[in-house]
Amino acid sequence: MVANPVPDHVPPEMVGDFSLFTSPCMSPTPNGDPHAAVACVHAGPPIFYSPWNTRAGQGTWVITRAADQRRVLQETEVFSSHRSIFASALGEDWPMIPLELDPPYHGVFRSLLNPLLSPQRVAEFEPTIRERAITLIDSIASRGTSCDVMKDFAFPFAVNIFLRFLGLPDHRLDTFVGWAKDLLHGDDLRRPAAARTIVAFIDELAAMRRKEPVDDFMSFIVHAQVEGRGLTDQEVRGIGVLTFVAGLDTVAAAIGFDLAYLARNLEDQELLRNEPDRIVLAAEELLRAYPSVQMIRVARKDIDFKGAPIRKGDFVSCATMIANRDPTEFEAPNTVDLTREGNPHAAFGYGPHRCLGSHLARREIVVGLEEWMARIPPFRIKEATAPITHGGHVFGIENLVLDWARPRPRGTGHIRGK
Ligand code: HEM
Repeated sequence: MVANPVPDHVPPEMVGDFSLFTSPCMSPTPNGDPHAAVACVHAGPPIFYSPWNTRAGQGTWVITRAADQRRVLQETEVFSSHRSIFASALGEDWPMIPLELDPPYHGVFRSLLNPLLSPQRVAEFEPTIRERAITLIDSIASRGTSCDVMKDFAFPFAVNIFLRFLGLPDHRLDTFVGWAKDLLHGDDLRRPAAARTIVAFIDELAAMRRKEPVDDFMSFIVHAQVEGRGLTDQEVRGIGVLTFVAGLDTVAAAIGFDLAYLARNLEDQELLRNEPDRIVLAAEELLRAYPSVQMIRVARKDIDFKGAPIRKGDFVSCATMIANRDPTEFEAPNTVDLTREGNPHAAFGYGPHRCLGSHLARREIVVGLEEWMARIPPFRIKEATAPITHGGHVFGIENLVLDWARPRPRGTGHIRGK
């Protein structure tokens, strides 16, 4: 990966050779675990500058202590989240809402959307989530004793829930999975094409629901009022696109990393199989150990931060995979302990932009694991395969081939970094 230029104001001694996209830290390690590899930054300073750590033509400052990340995420008058990431890929400039709005305007939309993803709404939605998980897993089990979890379960499950959440039928599942894959993992041609298709779809759905409302998410949005007025088309699009993007890769990655961990740790698998009530707590520990999101902010003004001269316009990275392995916050941070309690991890972020979908995401992960453990016998990583992990703004696994055909000696099968 080519390094972006180092700005003149960054002292050379503060430049670090590190990237969440293709860090040397993340190249194959003894156990091929990119999250543990990223944790190497804790041996270094609380902040450094990496010219490699973004694709946006600009490097980032990297904040390595969880407490300092919280400060950045809380001080929105200094660190903005307004970036138009999605729109800029189309050569346009509009925010994904509410993520790319700063307070106080952010709060207007956050208050509007909070009830739609509240714990109560998610509880009402749970039967649908469970039914989707069971259908997919039963279909996998009926086809044999092996599958690629990412392709056959994690990804379609996340997309399926999104469709149901929007109130759309499943028959377009494959189309949506294709769009999502191209958007998140396509090349420079496919990504903008998928982005355009998704925008066109959201616009079309919004127009339909304006004309003929039904009892669903989009009908609510297009008829909602903020500050005494209806939402503009661009605001509706900003909300629709974020809802599509935010919950796909993240949920799929969490399920993938969780099942990869369990495939390699048969005692823990047995524990959860025998005592499924432990899955809720275990899912929190797995979110701590294998979070997926790097949050980026833009400095709104010059500030000296722990001796670092951050200047207006600089990018600042708060990576959840770094915060969650901070030894000053977690005892033995590189050890996965499924019975760990009081787990104040940062997987869902912090401050005003803390994940709006966290209740839904948690339910999806827990229900996914519960139904998987209930329906699939003890599983391992299939011999002669190795999951390929990837870094980036959202960490993930490209393939995870599991096998439950016959027992094999413990401790084999590795996750390999890319
Ligand atoms: C395991 C799954 C998930 C993880 C790890 C995750 C993580 C995050 C993180 C770290 C943020 C903060 C981003 C920032 O401050 O820059 C965030 C924000 C957000 N997430 Fe999630 N997320 C997950 C699933 C979901 C789902 C399922 C949805 C919705 C359907 C969702 C919707 C959102 C929205 C709308 C925001 C922006 C909130 C705001 O700006 O106020 N997320 N998520």
